Amino acid sequence: MRRAPCIIAPSLLAADLSRVGEEVRRAERAGGDWIHIDVMDGHFVPNLTMGPVVVEGVKRAARRLLDVHLMIENPEGLVEPFARAGAGRLTFHVEAMVPPARRRAYGRRPGEPIPRGWWLPGPQALPAAARARARALIRRIRGLGCRAGISLNPATPAACVLPFLGEVDLVLVMSVWPGFGGQPFDRAAPPKIRALREAGGAGLHVEVDGGLSPETIAEAAAAGANAIVAGTATFQARDMAAAIRALREGVRRARPR
Ligand code: DX5
Ligand code: ZN
Repeated sequence: MRRAPCIIAPSLLAADLSRVGEEVRRAERAGGDWIHIDVMDGHFVPNLTMGPVVVEGVKRAARRLLDVHLMIENPEGLVEPFARAGAGRLTFHVEAMVPPARRRAYGRRPGEPIPRGWWLPGPQALPAAARARARALIRRIRGLGCRAGISLNPATPAACVLPFLGEVDLVLVMSVWPGFGGQPFDRAAPPKIRALREAGGAGLHVEVDGGLSPETIAEAAAAGANAIVAGTATFQARDMAAAIRALREGVRRARPR
């Protein structure tokens, strides 16, 4: 039976950003398949990172696909600049398709306008307008010549992205609340990964992001994840090539037959 290829995507968030080009080349030499770029806007997540100008710089150093993870509000306004900057894939969050007032907030502290993260309780929280918005965005991304992906936060059930699996090449399951590297792997992710792999078949990339290491990878891969994002476990490793080999080996050993 055909299986989705094993992909390791080092996340630049954990790189030494004082020399980003060298870090990209180091990740590629070490065996990274895609370069994962975390875009944060200070609204969808409580942190700020990289925009199109940084992606443009990364593109000049990179040979591999730039796997751009948009943790932003109103992704419609930025897909074109990111595509022009050299993104190979643009993955947006399903939660961002619903106005903030109609989402659930996770970890909101009194007096702080931005919660730790957003989630949707189920497909009923995704009205027809939100579905149409997601579909239009996917078409727009593909029309720009990029691959399109859709992502979901830890508390959002898999059912919220099922309607889009036929239109994207990748679904990104967050195994931490997005915003920061170095957090522990959330064990709520594997059952969602399993459901998405079953629904999407071997032709879909099921990517998992957050807290992945040679220790936690077995659970994600056994559930059917084939694309592994890893920041701390790659860029911060003493030997990045050995770390990537260990991650790949972990996927091979654990993935279902
Ligand atoms: C979290 C980002 C991740 C992050 C993962 O918001 O989406 O891509 O870089 O970092 P680690 O691998 O350190 O958990
Ligand atoms: Zn990411």
